[in-house]
Amino acid sequence: MSKKVWKAGTMLYPAPPVMVTCGTSEKPNVFTVAWTGIVNSEPPMTYVSVRPERYSYGLIKETGEFVINLTTANLVKTADFCGVKSGREVDKFAETGLTAEAASAVSAPLLSESPLCLECRVKEVKPLGSHDMFLAEIVAVDVDEELLDESGRLRLEKAHLAAFCHGRYYAVGAELGTFGFSVVKKKTRKRRIAEIKEKRKEERIKKERAAEKHTSEDEKRDKAARFGQKVGRYFEQKREKPRRFKKTNEKNPKTLRFSDSGRSVSASRKKRTEKRK
Ligand SMILES: Cc1cc2nc3c(=O)[nH]c(=O)nc-3n(C[C@H](O)[C@H](O)[C@H](O)COP(=O)(O)O)c2cc1C
Repeated sequence: MSKKVWKAGTMLYPAPPVMVTCGTSEKPNVFTVAWTGIVNSEPPMTYVSVRPERYSYGLIKETGEFVINLTTANLVKTADFCGVKSGREVDKFAETGLTAEAASAVSAPLLSESPLCLECRVKEVKPLGSHDMFLAEIVAVDVDEELLDESGRLRLEKAHLAAFCHGRYYAVGAELGTFGFSVVKKKTRKRRIAEIKEKRKEERIKKERAAEKHTSEDEKRDKAARFGQKVGRYFEQKREKPRRFKKTNEKNPKTLRFSDSGRSVSASRKKRTEKRK
């Protein structure tokens, strides 16, 4: 692969286009940040690099807290808007319909619409040049319950996260492997694949059963509704025609004639003539 040498630049992609919430629940702000990442595991630590001229810069400096909200494909347009408009001029929550929700450990709110939010407390502010880096500890993580499977494991692939790559947004796509898969032994790999297949099968069956149950419940409801209509119709008929039996049948008056007692007229007449005999 022959390469061209360019001047130094910020070419580490993809980057996560996260939405950072700051300020307070009463007066929140949100802006987009791509210069972010994890810098330590124990304690879990992150950073956001922010230009001092941003409105959010002062808010984070003041409270020493912020929330990193992951952006999904559905939220990309909103994230872009929050990255081009300033909270100095517009209320980005009112403009976008985003919801600020109280976080559990920090004063800055989180975004209800984001599936994964990292509550952060600033440990250090490091001026780097164009940006100041807010080095922070992640003090709590808020996860959308719908992303958890039955065993409580996080299925982040369901969130359809967004990526920022050299000025463009992308949706995180096809899975290519799992952590350490390159060194996994053949036997273990086979077992894992079998486990995955089995799990998928179980999930499919579960879904089908749920769908079946749904339809049978729907049918029951429909039946009940139909029954209700029938009952209604019956009562309507009753109101219109209160008598159980008609004395004459318009279609065939000779053969079907009933007395008030419900007996056919011809039968009662027969009985009477028999008595007279
Ligand atoms: C995809 C994207 C990534 C951005 N990344 C950063 C960043 O890492 N740091 C920063 O200071 N500004 C970044 N910005 C710009 C700010 O989000 C933008 O200036 C915003 O309007 C600031 O809002 P505020 O004035 O309400 O704080 C980014 C914008 C976009 C669209």
